[in-house]
Amino acid sequence: MRAPDVLTSSASGSEIVPAADTAAGPAAAAVDSGSAALSDGGLVLRGIRRLFGDVVALDGVDLAVTRGESLVVLGPSGSGKSTLLRIIAGLDHADEGEVLIGGRDQIGLPPHRRDIAIVFQHFALYPHLTALRNITLGLRHGLRLDPAAADRRARDVAGRLQITELLDRLPRQLSGGQRQRVALARALARQAGVVLLDEPLSGLDAQLRQSLRIEIAGRLRAAGATTVHVTHDQIDAMATADRIAVLRDGRLEQVGTPDELYHHPRTAFVAGFIGSPPMNLMAADHTHDGWRTPLGLVHHPDLPGRPAADGDGVTVGIRPEHLRVSGPNPKAGDGPWRSGDGETSGTGAEARVSAPAVVSLVVPAGPEKIVHLDASGTAMAARCAADVPLRPGAEVTVTAPVADLHIFVL
Ligand SMILES: Nc1ncnc2c1ncn2[C@@H]1O[C@H](COP(=O)(O)OP(=O)(O)OP(=O)(O)O)[C@@H](O)[C@H]1O
Ligand SMILES: [Mg+2]
Repeated sequence: MRAPDVLTSSASGSEIVPAADTAAGPAAAAVDSGSAALSDGGLVLRGIRRLFGDVVALDGVDLAVTRGESLVVLGPSGSGKSTLLRIIAGLDHADEGEVLIGGRDQIGLPPHRRDIAIVFQHFALYPHLTALRNITLGLRHGLRLDPAAADRRARDVAGRLQITELLDRLPRQLSGGQRQRVALARALARQAGVVLLDEPLSGLDAQLRQSLRIEIAGRLRAAGATTVHVTHDQIDAMATADRIAVLRDGRLEQVGTPDELYHHPRTAFVAGFIGSPPMNLMAADHTHDGWRTPLGLVHHPDLPGRPAADGDGVTVGIRPEHLRVSGPNPKAGDGPWRSGDGETSGTGAEARVSAPAVVSLVVPAGPEKIVHLDASGTAMAARCAADVPLRPGAEVTVTAPVADLHIFVL
């Protein structure tokens, strides 16, 4: 069994020492579950709860990551992402719950006995060691590889991450992105069963993030690594995840593929967190004949299957690409609807709602423009063709097909 690549960090995260190596423990305990993640050597979390005084950092987190899968935990600052990774790594304990890797209970196992590698949010390399020595140190002392074998393995990973020419440099002679690749090489060289990444791209400029996110995703995939990557950046998440788990205040809101979360968000929080620009969310009311939205009345038969009581508050969402912006008095050829003040037209799949709006900002985005609108006090963004002749202050009509609306009952 492989030894893990765990670096125990001081409270400040600035001093890092490699954990001592010990022999692996007993064979995996039998676990009575049909979960693929259990049978194939993946990672399973059950009912993880962590309290810091009054703060509930994690509140019953259940997750299964199958072998070779890339799972991204996406959530805002303070949602519990780092705490979750630290518990998986054994650097923090759960007050309740189970962590299983390959079916084997990890609770009580020290970090160095877990088959994991971790790249920290604030990655740290030993400043007095070259990049090569930073990578080989854990291989020699943790995995007990002989110097030649450690060197070979480090150079192989370095070649794949395109840092071979940097191996003789000290960390201070490397850029942030290069240091991050060395830290990643150190983690990958361990060939651990589970790789944990805590915002590995934070602090890098946008261009470097873009190229590294593709590179890291590709490398981890090629290595067949089981990864749990935590980030607050939905673009990182969409680009690298097989599945995304959205974390909010220590609870999982939804777990699904990037497409599932984009097209079928279960909550307004998920809808507003994913997409760039994110889904437009508007307050609406439930009345006896339909949903009263800022864009018009949505008749119940046109958007069935959303039970709610009269007077219930709801949030209505629509993606920017589903909004249509036209002149204040659309011509006949613009579509089968008329402009109006919260006007509704058509029925069933053809139903549309529309309202007057004023353009507040136009942001060019290459092949398209993001047009920000104010519809009687409700802000929304629409994706438009790059050649739409719209300027701030223009009076327009904004129209939404009812079939593209999402209703979130509060
Ligand atoms: N050692 C600690 N003592 C007290 N509270 C803590 C401790 N560690 C974390 N917390 C609290 O637990 C919650 C989750 O923190 P965590 O660091 O896991 O968030 P995060 O999602 O990683 O945030 P960020 O995106 O800012 O890194 C926060 O409210 C945080 O203040
Ligand atoms: Mg964090």
